[in-house]
Amino acid sequence: MPLGAFLVEHLWANASVLGGRVPYDRTVAELQRLPVLPLLELIGIFLPLGFHVIYGVVLAREPKQNLGSDGYARHWLQRAQRVTGLIALVFLLAHLWEFRVQKWLFSMAPTNFYDVMESHMSWTKWGVPWIAIGYLIGVGATVSYFANSLFQFGVSWGWVKSLRAQKRLVLASASVGAFLFVLGALTVMSMASGSSFGLGRSMTAPALTDCKGQGTAPAH
Ligand code: HEM
Repeated sequence: MPLGAFLVEHLWANASVLGGRVPYDRTVAELQRLPVLPLLELIGIFLPLGFHVIYGVVLAREPKQNLGSDGYARHWLQRAQRVTGLIALVFLLAHLWEFRVQKWLFSMAPTNFYDVMESHMSWTKWGVPWIAIGYLIGVGATVSYFANSLFQFGVSWGWVKSLRAQKRLVLASASVGAFLFVLGALTVMSMASGSSFGLGRSMTAPALTDCKGQGTAPAH
């Protein structure tokens, strides 16, 4: 539950980049100013994450559960859960290296997050933005994993029993996953390309204003 809440908050906060650099830097600064941030991160992110990874590996090594007559679809979902969980873990390790380790060990300042994200996401080799593609895959795997978990949680805790209720839960969980993916994908593509997709101010061509706040033509 804390990890799910973190994921939603994290993707939402990063999507502030769609409004441009100023709202993004403001969001980062507001988060950094939270008085109990290190404690919140420890209790809300790193301890649950450590537990989840270790317990997930233990569960993955156990023999498969007998899922009874509704087994086919749920077997498929459980298999998808393992594959997306593994991809999400690889993505997360690289992502933590990119930011958290740099912040802890190499004093990366939060005011640099924007520049680092922009330069990494727009980096290309042979014309292909590999890091941005890695992000799209990582975000896709993480939100699929999360949506799948919402469904499995509702069913295995006995909250939804009838087939009709389970179908509704599948739809609701998939919608949450799809919404989060669109949010994350727009963020990644915005950082890679500089476009805000009509959702905010363009980052590549900041509007020039004179002293009265009127727009002026760029000087050549
Ligand atoms: C749109 C894609 C994403 C962007 C732009 C992004 C950006 C960032 C940034 C800038 C930080 C550094 C924050 C800090 O150290 O204060 C960070 C940290 C982190 N990210 Fe992401 N992230 C994205 C997706 C994800 C996803 C999908 C996950 C989940 C697997 C994730 C998990 C984390 C974790 C656990 C941290 C360390 C905790 C924290 O600093 O808040 N991120 N991310």
